Amino acid sequence: MIGAETTLDVSISGHPSQTVQTITETHTRTETPTVGYKSVTTAGVTFQWMVVDSGTNLDCILTATATGWVAVGFHSNTATASGKGFFANIIIGYVDLTGTSVSVVDNYNDSGNGHGPDTSFTGADDIITYSGTEINGITELRFKIPLNSGDPYDLPLVVGDYYNILLAWDADDDTTKRHDERGVVPNTQL
Ligand code: HEM
Repeated sequence: MIGAETTLDVSISGHPSQTVQTITETHTRTETPTVGYKSVTTAGVTFQWMVVDSGTNLDCILTATATGWVAVGFHSNTATASGKGFFANIIIGYVDLTGTSVSVVDNYNDSGNGHGPDTSFTGADDIITYSGTEINGITELRFKIPLNSGDPYDLPLVVGDYYNILLAWDADDDTTKRHDERGVVPNTQL
């Protein structure tokens, strides 16, 4: 009920009817398109995700106040922070300066100090769909990935299990450049 007003009229014998109570109810809807998504934030990057397609895929939204690349990394929960994402599955992307061209690429960290497309190893790019916007200096990437692609360069994700989520961004679109900011959200339940 939105903006409903209830008025109670009470009449006592011999007295004129009087209004003794007025209740106003206002229920505001706050739903956004991301209701139902889980969310973590660190280093100025927010990662939101929801399991979709009968438990087979992960719908993801990655947002940062950044005009360059933004990335999420999935790492086993037992990986130490000093591992710098070594062997992490990374999804990295950007919207170009004109705001028209979007790139989101399935990467793998093979060195601890960098990463490359899965396709540059012997893997595949397993991103199912992607899109992105860059508005007022905020980059938002949206993509869908399989929970378990079967690719040795992706980390199989199990709903309910715990992972280290790595988040990073850079002011430059060049994905071979190191981050301006980076962080880890450990023990994150998918
Ligand atoms: C070319 C790209 C990259 C290079 C050269 C690079 C290099 C480095 C280096 C040298 C460090 C250690 C120094 C420091 O703490 O800043 C580091 C740490 C880190 N990087 Fe990267 N990185 C790259 C991309 C990424 C990406 C895409 C992510 C995440 C999605 C990421 C996440 C992290 C995290 C979470 C740490 C801190 C780990 C810790 O606490 O020990 N990096 N990176």
